[in-house]
Amino acid sequence: MTTRVLFVCLGNICRSPAAEAVFAERARARGLAAEVDSAGTGDWHVGAPPHGPMQNAARARGIDLSSLRARQVHEGDFTAFDLIVAMDDNNVAALERLRPAGNATPVVKFTDFAPSAGADHVPDPYYTDDFEGALDLIERCAEGLCDALGRAVGEG
Ligand code: 4NP
Repeated sequence: MTTRVLFVCLGNICRSPAAEAVFAERARARGLAAEVDSAGTGDWHVGAPPHGPMQNAARARGIDLSSLRARQVHEGDFTAFDLIVAMDDNNVAALERLRPAGNATPVVKFTDFAPSAGADHVPDPYYTDDFEGALDLIERCAEGLCDALGRAVGEG
């Protein structure tokens, strides 16, 4: 069974494209079947590639973000994906406002999958400038999400 996972942040140029690419790489390495995408709750950067400093920080870890392009999340995403993974509480609130009536697709926070990291959101490096810290946390959350999906499909 392939799990379709959508990562969502505000601009779709820093956190969610990095989460999408890091998780895709980890899931592939672990043999987990996942389809991934990312989107932003805002529309300012639609069509743009990920922010340069995030691309550079990810590339240094072997993750290529250059082919990704920002898009805005829309109602149809609630039926196109099995799981929607938000970076912070504002993303969750924006997603809940967009949720179509009767839809029950889970909206969760990425940090829920890495409780030992002690973070309740992924801080936005567009404002904090801490791209390394964001990627460190994203890597831990991606591993935790792989663990959860692996348990759900009976891996190991
Ligand atoms: P992201 O960061 O949500 O991690 O992609 C942001 C990038 C740009 C803006 C906001 C957040 N912006 O307002 O332009």
